[in-house]
Amino acid sequence: MPEIDLRDAMNAVSDVIQNRPRPIRQFDQIYMKAGDMVIQSEFVARWANEKRLVFVGDGDAISVCVAYLKNRGVLEYGPSKVMVLDFDERIVNAVKRFADKERLENLDARLYNALDGLPEDLVEFDYFYTNPPWGQYNDGESINVFLDRGVEAVCSQGEGLVVIADDKEINWSQEVLAKVQSHAASRGFFVARMQPELHLYHLDDAPDLRSCNLLFRARPQNERVRVSEAVMEQSRLENFYGRSKAPRAKYVRELKSLNYGQAQDNEYELQLLEERYD
Ligand SMILES: C[S@@+](CC[C@H](N)C(=O)[O-])C[C@H]1O[C@@H](n2cnc3c(N)ncnc32)[C@H](O)[C@@H]1O
Repeated sequence: MPEIDLRDAMNAVSDVIQNRPRPIRQFDQIYMKAGDMVIQSEFVARWANEKRLVFVGDGDAISVCVAYLKNRGVLEYGPSKVMVLDFDERIVNAVKRFADKERLENLDARLYNALDGLPEDLVEFDYFYTNPPWGQYNDGESINVFLDRGVEAVCSQGEGLVVIADDKEINWSQEVLAKVQSHAASRGFFVARMQPELHLYHLDDAPDLRSCNLLFRARPQNERVRVSEAVMEQSRLENFYGRSKAPRAKYVRELKSLNYGQAQDNEYELQLLEERYD
């Protein structure tokens, strides 16, 4: 890793964390820990330098970190354009609000459900990134759905970074890794690099479970094509977000615009001072 000013990097990532909505566990929103976000963001910025990068789901907000670290001069490199696709309107709005406030002109977000075909105008990307639901109970099929959307967004060219569970001692994570790699191969992508057992998460029931960076590259012989259809097969939807948790929400809608870094009105009440000054 090149030398960066750790204090500046941590403080910038702290601004991003302050802006994130709280995670909804039933949709596998489980956020990466702060130290790992710094290292991951630096890696992603270097990997995708000068590329147009699309995120298929990004509750972690690595997208925002990458754009912000470059804009603040903490990093001298980074993608030329960053687009976040997420079905949670709170996340989309949080990205847009941050981009607006910090004038990050190359950062944008759109509401999109990965089960729907990709809108036709979303084709202008070189690289994709996804940290999807980790597919413990469906043989990695939920990962494959997100990976397919990434592959479609780059028209089967370029590279993609898939962040998923990896622990040598946990058999399902190793089986899923194998399944995802063979699925990617069927889509014309091969593993160019793997960084095993890297990141930790705010995950109460498995605090030591790490994820890896699995970096895929398109085969040179791939044709530049894109067919994108909605996922309809029941077999791809079962246990999508965990055991017996098939998708039922098209979007998560934001009820009111919140300032996420601050306490909400419904979290506390005031016990008033006695009248003292009469
Ligand atoms: C599934 S979580 C995986 C854990 C990851 N560390 C996180 O919390 O961002 C990744 C992102 O995918 C989004 N997501 C979940 N289901 C989706 C869907 N059907 N379409 C698009 N985005 C989805 C979540 O809102 C979240 O932001």
